Amino acid sequence: MIALGADHGGFQLKNAIKKHLESKGIACKDFGTNSKESVDYPNFALAVAKSVKSGECSEGILCCGTGIGISIAANKVPGIRAAVVGDVYSAKMTKEHNNSNILCLGERVIGEGLALMIVDTWLEANYAGAHHQKRLDLLAEIENTKWC
Ligand code: RB5
Repeated sequence: MIALGADHGGFQLKNAIKKHLESKGIACKDFGTNSKESVDYPNFALAVAKSVKSGECSEGILCCGTGIGISIAANKVPGIRAAVVGDVYSAKMTKEHNNSNILCLGERVIGEGLALMIVDTWLEANYAGAHHQKRLDLLAEIENTKWC
């Protein structure tokens, strides 16, 4: 199951992604939002990140105006590797190299056609492991450091 979330700047793209995935038989859990009414993206990022972290959903997709704010918020949750992607090459690489577990997209930045291609590419790609794991371990080490 794929967790979906968005703020008011990304909900139309989120809904298009939901329709696209469901038409391919991929189940989604939609954490909102579902209107143009202004909301705060950290709340939706947290709901999706918690769902991925707990294992309720295998991966998540978040949309806001740029994809950036919502990715910063999701990356505050330990174990989450959220990547803002605007091209198909990066979509494949961020799964293969970073094992990203949340994909972030900017509704005001990319068109729906490219966004859906990015979603498909990201979902179909696989983590390559090997020497990349050392780097993911280092990321976890940063998360586990007590900074203050
Ligand atoms: C909302 O206007 C906008 O700031 C938000 O969707 C996002 O782009 C933030 O990074």
